[in-house]
Amino acid sequence: MERTLVLLKPDAAQRGLVGHIISRFETKGLKLIALKMRTFPSDHLEQHYEVHKERPFFKNLVGFMSSGPVVAMCLEGKDAIKVVRQMVGATNSREAAPGTIRGDYGMSFSNNLVHASDGPDTAKSEMALWFNDEAEISEWEPANLGWTYNIAEELS
Ligand code: CMP
Repeated sequence: MERTLVLLKPDAAQRGLVGHIISRFETKGLKLIALKMRTFPSDHLEQHYEVHKERPFFKNLVGFMSSGPVVAMCLEGKDAIKVVRQMVGATNSREAAPGTIRGDYGMSFSNNLVHASDGPDTAKSEMALWFNDEAEISEWEPANLGWTYNIAEELS
């Protein structure tokens, strides 16, 4: 089982899409193991996007991300990082394929609704940044796990 970090950006809250987007992850079969909503300070967002700090869009990105509430969550599942990235779609929402979250709900490059970890190392460091207290992570077993997966084939 793999874990990944997902952020619903302030445009998701402003446009009333938070419930829709969380629902897509849940109905896919991904397990929600942590969730919180808060307007986060700039220094936290600067840390999260540190890899982009030399890019021309960095200042606007941090300004946008700290302009309103962000919903942060951890999702767990088999190949969760890749599955979530495929569900989110291309960074530029106008180019994201129909059926992806950005492709279905977005029109913008910058206001692209969702951030999702892009690999195992990033997922680890991003989860540590956004959920640094172990008590924020819920370890639980969904009652339908044996129907979401074929346990003998996929979880052995
Ligand atoms: P995200 O997946 O959160 O990672 C970096 C974010 O920077 C990206 O989504 C976009 O919202 C934002 N961004 C704005 N302009 C650009 C750009 N030219 N290239 C990449 N990302 C950009």
